[in-house]
Amino acid sequence: MKFFVDTADVDAIRELHDLGMVDGVTTNPSLILKSGRDILEVTKEICSFVEGPVSAEVVALQADEMIAEGRRLAGIAPNIAVKVPLTWDGLKACKVLAGEGKMVNVTLCFSVSQALLAAKAGATFISPFIGRLDDINIEGTDLIADIRQVYDNYSFDTQILAASIRTINHAARCALIGADVMTAPPSVIKAMAGHVLTDKGLEQFMKDWAKTGQKIV
Ligand code: G3P
Repeated sequence: MKFFVDTADVDAIRELHDLGMVDGVTTNPSLILKSGRDILEVTKEICSFVEGPVSAEVVALQADEMIAEGRRLAGIAPNIAVKVPLTWDGLKACKVLAGEGKMVNVTLCFSVSQALLAAKAGATFISPFIGRLDDINIEGTDLIADIRQVYDNYSFDTQILAASIRTINHAARCALIGADVMTAPPSVIKAMAGHVLTDKGLEQFMKDWAKTGQKIV
């Protein structure tokens, strides 16, 4: 499973990138707001060191305007994936932009039917939102499993990019199901290193080591 980082915080991306944990980046209008940066400027900076796909989202609601915005965003760097919402106009924009050879990430997906349409429209990535389904008491990871089955049934090339990942359990479930990619905030990726038994075991090792009175260096 590829790891994308869901943030426009350049320092946070760099830290994970240095560890080889960044296969790509996703942003959205809320994350651009949080960064306090200009979308074109911050996206260009991210693309200067991230080799994999970097998603930048259009904000227009009409297909023709989405296409114009998508072309502008795609002009930032060759590894831009234009992010469009899963609306009828978004699907139209997806078809045109994908036809021009651009990577397209169709976002705000909450059903198998939506995911099917995105694949038919030529999406490179489909972004089902797990956490936001959990928020309304629907098991978000079930949607990932269902889309996996449908895409495999018909050999669609569209990659499942599991999004709105809030917990390490979400990440583990996505890997077990076979999501192609997960995008998670840096905090969740870092939390994946933690386990209560690791902490407990380390504490005991440190206590016992102190009793030996030895040093390694
Ligand atoms: O990639 C989509 C993601 O940013 C949404 O996450 O936690 O706002 O639902 P969340």
